[in-house]
Amino acid sequence: MAVITKVERIAVIGAGTMGSGIAQVSATSGFHTALIDVSAEALARAKESIHQSVEKLFSKGKLDNTARHNALEGIVSGTDLSLAAEADLIIEAASENKPLKLKLFADLDALAKPSAIIASNTSSISITSLAAATKRPSQVIGMHFMNPVPIMPLVELIRGLDTSAETVATALEVCRAMGKTVYEANDSPGFISNRILMPMINEAIFCLMEGVGTAEAIDGVMKLGMNHPMGPLTLADFIGLDVCLAILEVLHSELGDDKYRPCPLLRKMVAAGHLGRKTGRGFYTYTS
Ligand code: CAA
Repeated sequence: MAVITKVERIAVIGAGTMGSGIAQVSATSGFHTALIDVSAEALARAKESIHQSVEKLFSKGKLDNTARHNALEGIVSGTDLSLAAEADLIIEAASENKPLKLKLFADLDALAKPSAIIASNTSSISITSLAAATKRPSQVIGMHFMNPVPIMPLVELIRGLDTSAETVATALEVCRAMGKTVYEANDSPGFISNRILMPMINEAIFCLMEGVGTAEAIDGVMKLGMNHPMGPLTLADFIGLDVCLAILEVLHSELGDDKYRPCPLLRKMVAAGHLGRKTGRGFYTYTS
């Protein structure tokens, strides 16, 4: 049996949709939580979205008063990476950009406690390569949460080449304490989730580009015919078209198979700045 490191303090790096959701769930699950981002505006937006989500869950009786208080009052936030120095577990949820993540991993390794585990919420980048940017590769793991983090039950755990059994056991324990169900994936581009999801989304975009159907028809067929909660184009807008493109680029370049080539329409939409819900326009338009 692998020994489990006791985790009391969690630091989340990146206050975007995923980082704020992870910080929320961490705080409501009773961990001392720090949320760090280079942008003070991003931290302010995260505070607002955590507030809205927590109040919604509290009003439905899905959170008790302590959990609500922990998330609304207990999260320490700031722009200084050294806020992560005391953490037992650091979860990186910065942009899906490999050079940025490699630099963050090297910086976090230099300031984190020797016993700390450094996890990444990356949706496709190799955990083994992030681990190699540190001097603690056995303490690096992928913890891939799903959006919206407070609602989605899954965490995909990804073991890098040198990830230790103790690190896996500790991450598993933390996910369970957060009320999540875990499935393990090996360190292969896109892991399980995006290896399957992104080709489906990409194919839906090809169908739209080639005029196989309208956006409403493509999404309607997948919702009503396959019982998906959202059609693939709606889901792409929800995830962010820039994120979808970044993941497809990783699948295409690292697996070397043209079946993963990003659809030209996706590239065009990203080039135009139509990134989905977050910019108000993607395959659909959104008002706030
Ligand atoms: N916090 C609290 N509550 C939330 C919430 C949040 N962040 N987001 C949604 N909810 C609640 C809503 O308030 C609503 O509650 P009621 O039913 O009590 O009214 C409930 O969840 C359902 O929400 P909606 O009515 O707005 O819409 P919906 O029924 O379509 O559900 C959804 C929303 C849960 C997001 C659902 O559409 C869904 O499961 N979609 C698929 C999501 C998905 O596939 N996520 C994975 C994306 S891939 C990824 O994240 C990883 C990657 O690497 C790209």
